[in-house]
Amino acid sequence: MAGNRTFTMIKPDAVSAGNVGAIIKMIQEAGFSIKAMKMTKMSAERAGQFYEVHKERPFYNDLCEYMSSGAIVPMILEKDNAVEDFRTLIGATNPKEAAEGTIRALFAESIEANAIHGSDSDDNAEIEGKFFFAKTEEF
Ligand code: TYD
Repeated sequence: MAGNRTFTMIKPDAVSAGNVGAIIKMIQEAGFSIKAMKMTKMSAERAGQFYEVHKERPFYNDLCEYMSSGAIVPMILEKDNAVEDFRTLIGATNPKEAAEGTIRALFAESIEANAIHGSDSDDNAEIEGKFFFAKTEEF
């Protein structure tokens, strides 16, 4: 994946609240094109692998439980400056601190159930995209 791609997933709170369509609309209206997408569910073990970088943090076990509690919608997105622009679109991790009009300000329930993920670097975007998608599922 080149530097113009990022990885995202719509998290269980936003899927179960029926916000997938509204979030995808915002993503496309912001100029991102969808290069891979599916609906799936992670086991707690698999969520633990995805968030392994946080395994020493106090919120890790709760986060893994939450991330495996329901369906998620992972996607690979393309746009110039994708990683940075997507982080701007989703807003701060804590929705109380997220800028007005961002996806997390509009749809997140809490710092844990914060509606959506966005990769924080080009390298992680590639690693995270591969975590969910085979080459043949990416366009
Ligand atoms: P982090 O990588 O810091 O945030 P971001 O998703 O904005 O890149 O944290 C990963 C996820 O961990 C975050 O989206 C929600 C969860 N989390 C908590 O549940 N509690 C916390 O205090 C923090 C910092 C994160």
